[in-house]
Amino acid sequence: MEKNREIRETENIPVTEPERQYYFIEKAAAHLREMSREAGRPLTFCVTTFGCQMNARDSEKLVGILEKIGYVEEENEEKADFVIYNTCTVRENANLRVYGRLGQLGRIKKKNPHMMIALCGCMMQEPEVVEKLKKSYRFVDLIFGTHNIYKFAELLATRMESDRTVIDIWKDTDRIVEDLPSERKYPFKSGVNIMFGCNNFCSYCIVPYVRGRERSRDPKAIIREIERLSADGVSEVMLLGQNVNSYGKTFNPPVTFAQLLKEIEKVEGIRRIRFMTSHPKDLSDELIEVMARSKKICRHLHLPVQSGSTRILEKMNRRYTKEGYLDLVERIRKAMPDISLTTDIIVGFPGETEADFEDTMDVVRKVRYDSAFTFIYSKRTGTPAAVMEDQVPEEVVKKRFQRLLDEVQTIAAEACAVHEGTVQEALVESVNEHDDSLVTGRLGNNLLVHFPGDESMIGSYVNVRLNECRGFYYIGERTEKEK
Ligand code: 5AD
Ligand code: SF4
Repeated sequence: MEKNREIRETENIPVTEPERQYYFIEKAAAHLREMSREAGRPLTFCVTTFGCQMNARDSEKLVGILEKIGYVEEENEEKADFVIYNTCTVRENANLRVYGRLGQLGRIKKKNPHMMIALCGCMMQEPEVVEKLKKSYRFVDLIFGTHNIYKFAELLATRMESDRTVIDIWKDTDRIVEDLPSERKYPFKSGVNIMFGCNNFCSYCIVPYVRGRERSRDPKAIIREIERLSADGVSEVMLLGQNVNSYGKTFNPPVTFAQLLKEIEKVEGIRRIRFMTSHPKDLSDELIEVMARSKKICRHLHLPVQSGSTRILEKMNRRYTKEGYLDLVERIRKAMPDISLTTDIIVGFPGETEADFEDTMDVVRKVRYDSAFTFIYSKRTGTPAAVMEDQVPEEVVKKRFQRLLDEVQTIAAEACAVHEGTVQEALVESVNEHDDSLVTGRLGNNLLVHFPGDESMIGSYVNVRLNECRGFYYIGERTEKEK
C-alpha cells in the first residue's frame, strides 16, 4: 500500500520543464514552511555574486526561485539561514576569495543549526574544485554548476529531504529552459540572456570549459521576455552573451545579431538597448549600420582588445590583428563619431615582450578608450596558455600593468571631460550612496552623473547638464533644455 503511494507520487512529477521545477518549488515551499515553524520565524537567504553580468543575471534567477519558495532576502550573509555563492573562475583571485569567505562561513554555520550553504557558478565546473570542497569543506549542503542552474528548486528540495550534500554538475548541455521565475535587482532595467557559452577558445580563457558550447536563445523567446519586461516597467535592456556578435549563426536559416536588434527595437516601451560582449572578429558592418541608424541602441561598445600585439593576439587565438582591430575602430567611429568605446586588456600573457607591450600601449593611445578593464594574466589550469613557455616574471608584469593603468586612466579622464557642459539624457538609477540629496543617473554612453534629486525620480529619464567631470563620472544638474 505504502509502496503504491510512493510510486504514484513519483508518477506525478512532471517530466517537462519548466513545469517540473514549479512542482519542486511547491515541494521546497512545504518543507520551508515546516522549517520556519520549527525555527519560529521566517527563514532568510543571501545570494552573493562573484564575476560578470552573466552571473549577476543568473543570481536574479536564483533569487526569483528562492522568493517563490518563500525565503525572505537578508543582505548580511552572516545572518542569513541560506547562503548561496554564485562563483566565478575567470582569474585565480576569484577562486581564492571564495575559499577565504567560505572558511569564515563554515565557522558561522557551526553556531546556526538552520543554516544551509550552496555553491554554484563557473568555479563548480572545475573537477579539482569540487574535489577540494568534498575533502575540506564538508559543511557545504548543495553544489551545482552553470548548466543546470534551472534545476535549483529540484536540487534544493532534494537537499531538504536528505541530510547529505547534494552535488550535481553537468559537463555540458544543449538545452535552454525558458519561463522560470526571476527577480530583478532594478525595476526599470534588466539583463536578458540571448546566448550561453562560448566557442572561441581564446588560449588564456577558461570560460568555454565552464560555460560550454555556444547556444543561442530562440528570438521569439527573447522578444517575448522583453515584451513582458516592458509591460512590467523595464525601459532599458542589456543583452548578454560571451560573444553576442555570433548570435543565431547555428539557426537554420541563420539569424544575425543585427536582425535580432532590429526586432528588439520594435518592442514598445523599451528606450535603451545595450549589449555585451562583442568579439572584434565577428563585429559586422551590418551591426554598425543598424546601431548608427538606431535611436534606441546606446552609443557604447565594449570591444575587448586583450593585446595590441599581432604576435600575442595570434598566440591568444583571437583571430584578428592589431591593424584589423584599429581598422574596425575607425569604421565604427566613422559611422558613429560620438560612440563610447571600452575594452578589456590582459598584461603579461606568456611570451609578452617589451615590444609587444608597447603595441598594446600604442592601441590604447590610438583608440583612446572611454574606459578599460585591465587584468594581469592569470594562469588557468586546462587552458593552452597555462602550459606555454616564457611565463613573464611577476615584477615585469606589475610594472607594465601600472604603466598601462596610468595611461588608460589619463586618457579616460580626458575623454570624459569632452562632454563637460553638454546636456544629456540620464536614466535615474538610485539615490546617491554617500549623499542622499543627490541621485545617480546613467547616460547612454554608460557614464554616471550625480545631481540633485530624490527617490521619486528613480526609473525616469531626465535631461542633465554635465557641469563638472571628475575623472570617470560627472557632477551635474537637471535642466528642461533638450540636448
Ligand atoms: N587572465 C587574465 N584575464 C583574463 N580574462 C579572461 N581570462 C583571463 C585570464 N586567464 C579577462 C579577459 C576577458 C575578461 C572578462 O577577463 O580580458 O575579456
Ligand atoms: Fe573567453 Fe575568448 Fe570566449 Fe571571451 S571570447 S569568453 S575571452 S574564450
